[in-house]
Amino acid sequence: INLIFLGPPGAGKGTQSARIIDDYKVVQISTGDLLRAAVKAGTSLGKEAKVYMDGGQLVPDTLIINMMKERFESDDCKNGFILDGFPRTTAQAEALDSMLENELKTSITHIISLEVDDEVVVKRNTGRRVCPKCGATYHIKFNPSKEGGICDNDSETLVHRDDDREETIRKRLGVYHETTALLKDYYGKTGKFAELNGDDAPENVYAKIKEILG
Ligand code: AP5
Ligand code: ZN
Repeated sequence: INLIFLGPPGAGKGTQSARIIDDYKVVQISTGDLLRAAVKAGTSLGKEAKVYMDGGQLVPDTLIINMMKERFESDDCKNGFILDGFPRTTAQAEALDSMLENELKTSITHIISLEVDDEVVVKRNTGRRVCPKCGATYHIKFNPSKEGGICDNDSETLVHRDDDREETIRKRLGVYHETTALLKDYYGKTGKFAELNGDDAPENVYAKIKEILG
């Protein structure tokens, strides 16, 4: 399986990826997670990316494409992967096509777009809490940790992402509709594309994903 997850911020791409990687033994590659790690490590990429991320804007294509080229060099991609948050622009989609064909000698097997309305997105992202240590994602109402504010896996204190304030979420949604949503047309012609209603309980969404992946 080489899957691309499309869908607005907070559609549940990360939540569903966590289930898929367990069952299908593939790796999840999230450009958002890679960027947040670069910001935390204080690399030059991180410093440059932070300004765009905090403003709810896309990080420039060249930075993202170079970061993904490097990520794909790792052997763990060979048994299958989920792309979560990449590609987000036509330029990124074209660069991905060429990387897959020329360097990885493989191709995308499935593209799934999780569809969720804007107001649901706002509720999900404002209530999202993440574990800074293991990356687990929770929601204060929809998916709370057992002990409020503390990760189930490692007892770490959960944090609220800098870009999960309502104002920034609305900007991210605007960018999604103007730019990333156009990729549905790009991939719609491939015969590998499916749209799924993401506004359902996580286990119901996952059941539909499994039907698609087989
Ligand atoms: P990124 O980290 O990719 O953020 P995003 O696309 O906005 O997506 P999220 O990770 O926020 O959401 P998700 O769909 O994974 O939802 P989740 O499962 O967590 O990008 C951040 C920034 O980095 C961008 O703004 C940009 O600046 C930059 N960037 C990244 N990639 C880039 C690229 N390729 N090019 C340029 N710039 C890039 O769920 C959300 C919440 O809802 C959670 O609290 C969860 O518990 C809850 N939830 C999930 N599913 C359900 C459900 N079924 N029912 C109820 N609640 C649910
Ligand atoms: Zn944790």
